[in-house]
Amino acid sequence: MDNRPIGVFDSGVGGLTVADKIFRLLPKENIVYFGDTARVPYGNKSKETITRFSKEITKFLLHFKVKLIIVACNTASSLSLDSLQRSFSVPILGVITPGVEEALKASRTGRIGVIGTGATISSRVYETKIKSIDRNCFVVQKSCPLFVPLVENKWLDNDITLKVVKKYLSPLLAKKIDTLILGCTHYPLLKKAIRKITGKNIVLIDSSKVTAECTRDILRKKNMLGNNKKAYAKFFASDDKGSFSSLAKVFLGKNIKAKKVILCGK
Ligand code: DGL
Repeated sequence: MDNRPIGVFDSGVGGLTVADKIFRLLPKENIVYFGDTARVPYGNKSKETITRFSKEITKFLLHFKVKLIIVACNTASSLSLDSLQRSFSVPILGVITPGVEEALKASRTGRIGVIGTGATISSRVYETKIKSIDRNCFVVQKSCPLFVPLVENKWLDNDITLKVVKKYLSPLLAKKIDTLILGCTHYPLLKKAIRKITGKNIVLIDSSKVTAECTRDILRKKNMLGNNKKAYAKFFASDDKGSFSSLAKVFLGKNIKAKKVILCGK
């Protein structure tokens, strides 16, 4: 048993989709969440910058003596996970591998679509990972830069959102995919709109649930599951805590309080 907290971070609020699944699956775990709201979006930044930010956040989370860190951001997972794992001894888990494994299980035809931020899509991490497991898969990718601002403005299912979703997804649907990886932690909030465009026959892969399951499996294997009677969740954001909390309500369906912290980069 290990009652130390699990650290979770994202460029902003998107990682709360993962934190939410951790709360449900592992209610006896303490969680420390960091959202880098001062520097979001990561999706249009370079590998070097994203890696630097991710390292700063990891160091911040280590002050809480976290036992494991989840990079609950596809962009940071795509571009900085390897470097984080090389630089720190704490177990660090990203969201890409759990999502890929789930997609490969779900796909009947091996025709998989991937959507994500510009940085995630240009890294081709999903495609590389899928093909390293099954080289016969056909992978088609599309960056959807307008999805994050739509979610952050709470435009989850209106007519404009539907038009944008249609515009982005049409080329993927034309390639006859049977599975679509939602390769950004914001996108599960657009599931309803996405579903309206894809129809019900395409499997939507939301890596948040599998990432939580993967976390449980790792902790169980290492005999590090927590057993906190009154587990806590602490939330930190690097900018205006008010807007973090208001968006967090959309992601978690409840009010939370976040503390503002400024990372000094050391
Ligand atoms: N939540 C981030 C992700 O999963 C996207 C937001 C951003 O661009 O920073 O990729």
